[in-house]
Amino acid sequence: QNFMLNREIMKGRKVLVTAGGTREELDPVRYLGNYSSGRMGYAIAEAFAEAGAQVTLVSGPSDILPPFGVETVRIISAEEMYLEVMTRYAEQDIVVKAAAVADFRPAVRNEQKIKKDGESVILELVPNPDILSALGARKKHQYLVGFAAETQNVIENGLEKLKRKKADMLVVNDVTAPGAGFGTDTNIVSFLYPDGRKIDLPKMSKLDVARRLVQEIALNKGIGSK
Ligand code: CTP
Ligand code: CA
Repeated sequence: QNFMLNREIMKGRKVLVTAGGTREELDPVRYLGNYSSGRMGYAIAEAFAEAGAQVTLVSGPSDILPPFGVETVRIISAEEMYLEVMTRYAEQDIVVKAAAVADFRPAVRNEQKIKKDGESVILELVPNPDILSALGARKKHQYLVGFAAETQNVIENGLEKLKRKKADMLVVNDVTAPGAGFGTDTNIVSFLYPDGRKIDLPKMSKLDVARRLVQEIALNKGIGSK
């Protein structure tokens, strides 16, 4: 399945990729987070750069080295990611939302470390902005790609998300399948389209998934050939 991308296929295109998980602070020493490693999103940024695109990577905290030639913008929380993505949206040709954005954040961020006193604590969480939905609602010329990590009814849930968020394409994966999901070097994904069309890829490295995605987007935009 290893193949080379045409190095010119995305030449002159501006692409924004989000990657990694966001962290939602509770106090100066604690946060709510998720298991996203950033691997899939970084691979996508790398594949677009390989294909000649001008790539901006908006990333949550991650240990991965940003790919060569990619402008990397670091953020911590979902609200920060929302701001960085929205301010750059107008100039983009393609946006790929691979980040695992926290759906909720603590209603209050304590200025001081929360102290225990033997009692239970009830945390109030408030919803974060849905970045992909906001992009879908403000879409002009941009090609919008979402991700969906599901643990059940992968395709049905994916199609519903795709339509609700007005994305042009959704990459879905069953994060519970062996060789797929968080922290692994491989992934098993399907490409979903609003008309219900679905392309199933075999298990492959995240970089090859990323290259296939770039090729697929090029085809959909009519800027490439198989
Ligand atoms: N997403 C986003 N902003 C959020 C939550 C999700 O932009 N606040 C994006 C993700 O980056 C991904 C897509 O929406 O591209 C789907 O994310 P997912 O978590 O699967 O969907 P949700 O709408 O949050 O639904 P749920 O978690 O309840 O399944
Ligand atoms: Ca979510």
